[in-house]
Amino acid sequence: VSTVVISESEFRALRDLIRERFGIYYDDSKQFLLQSRLQTRLLKCSVSDFGGYERYLTSSPARETEWGELASVLSNNETYFFRERAQIDVLVTQVLDETLRSGGPLRVWSAACSTGEEPFTIAMMLMQTHRISPGNVVIHATDLSPRALEKAATGYYRELSFRATPPEMIQRYFRPFEGGFFVNDDVKRSVQFSRLNLLDERGIAAMGIHDAVFCRNALIYFDKPTQKRVVDAFAKALRPGGYLFLGHAESIMRLTDLYDPVVTSAAVYYRRK
Ligand SMILES: C[S@@+](CC[C@H](N)C(=O)[O-])C[C@H]1O[C@@H](n2cnc3c(N)ncnc32)[C@H](O)[C@@H]1O
Repeated sequence: VSTVVISESEFRALRDLIRERFGIYYDDSKQFLLQSRLQTRLLKCSVSDFGGYERYLTSSPARETEWGELASVLSNNETYFFRERAQIDVLVTQVLDETLRSGGPLRVWSAACSTGEEPFTIAMMLMQTHRISPGNVVIHATDLSPRALEKAATGYYRELSFRATPPEMIQRYFRPFEGGFFVNDDVKRSVQFSRLNLLDERGIAAMGIHDAVFCRNALIYFDKPTQKRVVDAFAKALRPGGYLFLGHAESIMRLTDLYDPVVTSAAVYYRRK
């Protein structure tokens, strides 16, 4: 199959549509990345070039279905268990202490959960403390990509997901199956997955109030105004003093004044004022 080339103007038009809908921003250096990610969609939509694809996305009767498909091909879903674990240590010590003192339940939201490794790590590390019963913790996990969420729902993972997992955690919380592992039912049951676009401010507000929000390694794909919009919306999903954990390349220090940054030797995070 030969490659269809995206023109400069087609690139501009498509990336603006995508940024408006999903926040994901393809800067000028990413023209060919977008071209390759969209390549299979042309065929599926029976259009012969990117101009045709743009028209499909804006005016085909099937456009909403196509936007759903697009959500699964536009982003990097790279993730693994126990990624940036120091932040989750803050959750299972400090945040958990505070919540238990106030009578709980602990409410945590993994807001760009990809294929589920992050919320399942949170669940395992909480269970491991033996300080909290399953009925006293709520873990919400959301993502834009239907395909990533489908994978999360299977609870089945292979080697690459375990690159940072302590062997005893695999033993305790997984069972082997055909070269990979299923996460235990207890862990699986403690996480509720659903689909949410981070640009959907009303959807964010409808998530309810949390003690901690994790949104790691997603904002990095957004431009600054969109990053601000999303972290400001998270303030509506956090209790006063609630915790926001971002990826380590995602500083919001000069972006918003709704949070106080906390910098320790092990982790950086933010607290809702
Ligand atoms: C690299 S993964 C990060 C996974 C995990 N948080 C971690 O740090 O390992 C980025 C995720 O952000 C999601 N994402 C991108 N844009 C989004 C949006 N507008 N709304 C919700 N999720 C989005 C992608 O679907 C992808 O699964």
